[in-house]
Amino acid sequence: MTPLTEELSAIAGAAFAAEGLDPALGRVQPADRPDLAQFQCNGALAAAKQAKTNPREIAQKLVARLKQNTLFAKVEIAGPGFINFNISDSALTGRLAQAAADAHLGVPRDGANRTVVIDFGGPNVAKPMHVGHLRSSIIGDCLQRLYRANGWHVVSDVHLGDWGLQMGQLISEVGRRGLAPVYFDETVTGPYPAQSPVTMDDLEELYPAASVACKADPERLEEARTATAELQAGRPGYRALWQHFVRVSEQGLEREFGSLGIHFDLWKGESSVDALIPPMVEDLKTRGLAVMSEGALVVPIARETDKKEMPPLILLKSDGAVLYGTTDLATIVDRVRTQNPDLILYVVDHRQHGHFEQVFRAAEKSGLNGHAVLEHVGYGTMNGPDGKPFKTRAGGVMKLYDLIAMATDEAEKRLTEQGLAADYPAEERAEIARKVGIATIKFADLSNHRQTDYIFDLTRFSRFEGKTGPYLQYAAVRIQSILRKAEDAGYAAASPTLRSAEERVLALRLLSLPDIMRGAEAKRAPNLLCDFAFGLAQDFSRFYTEHHILSESDVDLRAARLGLCRVTLAALTRVLGLLGIEVPARM
Ligand code: ARG
Repeated sequence: MTPLTEELSAIAGAAFAAEGLDPALGRVQPADRPDLAQFQCNGALAAAKQAKTNPREIAQKLVARLKQNTLFAKVEIAGPGFINFNISDSALTGRLAQAAADAHLGVPRDGANRTVVIDFGGPNVAKPMHVGHLRSSIIGDCLQRLYRANGWHVVSDVHLGDWGLQMGQLISEVGRRGLAPVYFDETVTGPYPAQSPVTMDDLEELYPAASVACKADPERLEEARTATAELQAGRPGYRALWQHFVRVSEQGLEREFGSLGIHFDLWKGESSVDALIPPMVEDLKTRGLAVMSEGALVVPIARETDKKEMPPLILLKSDGAVLYGTTDLATIVDRVRTQNPDLILYVVDHRQHGHFEQVFRAAEKSGLNGHAVLEHVGYGTMNGPDGKPFKTRAGGVMKLYDLIAMATDEAEKRLTEQGLAADYPAEERAEIARKVGIATIKFADLSNHRQTDYIFDLTRFSRFEGKTGPYLQYAAVRIQSILRKAEDAGYAAASPTLRSAEERVLALRLLSLPDIMRGAEAKRAPNLLCDFAFGLAQDFSRFYTEHHILSESDVDLRAARLGLCRVTLAALTRVLGLLGIEVPARM
């Protein structure tokens, strides 16, 4: 079905055209002043500017035409020439019924026949996932859900960091400690043991130790560099050992992402494109796009119009090792070949902006991106109460797993405080606390514009009042409970009718869902979905306060109101679902 604003824009556009004006000026949007009208069109002002006439005069003519349309209950001029509209209740009711009956709640699936690759998560092998990866995971997951809901073919890829210097650091640390000599014995070429010589806990201890050692000792760093280059060049023992690191890490990561309800279509990593690198490099050399510079092979990407210096993208270091940019460029080749995407989104900390600028320019200059638009969807930092990146109490890097546990504990406390889920079986209660804890984290993260830094304030974010995940879950649970009680009493629900201001406001909110989902997609802005969900819950709460539902004695009225509860719940659940938030059956 056509979104309401689109339908209204077409009607207004036709009126503009009939007056010999540009129909595009007929764009209709929700009114800035909902106390005055439901919708507005500002086009008469622009039209008057073009025609050098009085905007009110033009608006007058347009209003006269629009008034002939029975869809409108009111059409009038406001201020210097804005046109304000109200839609008739019967028209609103009809559209609401249509949206309620639609599997997608009236959201047109504009993305159909388009493919987007979403690169997010991006944890690094052997390093625990920290809160920096949390934001990428939460925002990226929301985008994958949104793009899917809008009809796109979505391919999500975790893009593991599994090919850089940290791999060489780990290998040489294991070597020095003599933990698994067989992988270092050059007379052995395999087969190697199937069992990993290290566990995830080992890796979590080994990596920081190696990293510290390399920082302190240039010789250790050199050793790690050499190990990295040898790994990449294919030394069998190193490859086998590295394979263990990757597998062990992946198992841990899958569990962590799983506990957040996040799934990826592809578990590829930097190393997946290893075989694509030599032919890509050859091709770039042959075409004169890659050149030698200070011993390294680079792709210059500076443009004359650049205001600041743009260093070239380094493809190969003098020891032949590849870098982060090389694997990213080859990954574009891989994605174009296997997915042929229209769009590739990289949900990565905005501090990596420079890196992506280099990679994108190199891809576009060489045409390696096919027809794909490449876009870095950056985000800011999650900070602690001190305004610095979020840390543990002891000052260490906060691990994702610990953060989830913390939020779940807090949710548990809040449930007790609110007297919720009080006499439920322990298992169910724990499951509710888990869902509320995750909702706390996700909603807090998504409700700010992604580019802004925010302070993680668990006490505030876990409240059951205000703009929080738990409040919205509770709002949905409450509607569920009304509907359950109605069902138990044998009360039927029917198509909503609109007889009061609160019902109209709620209906208009519900009919704006398509615009919200389109807008959130266009701006890659999950916060717009959060605003919608919160607004909807508030509208519902006003409706609920003002009207009887279960206690309404007029059977038709009760049925219509139950119908309104039903679509509200469907929309709220849908949007919370896009945010990756689950609604418990009861609380
Ligand atoms: N592993 C990287 C990090 O931890 C993020 C990867 C982002 N994706 C990409 N294609 N570069 O910073």
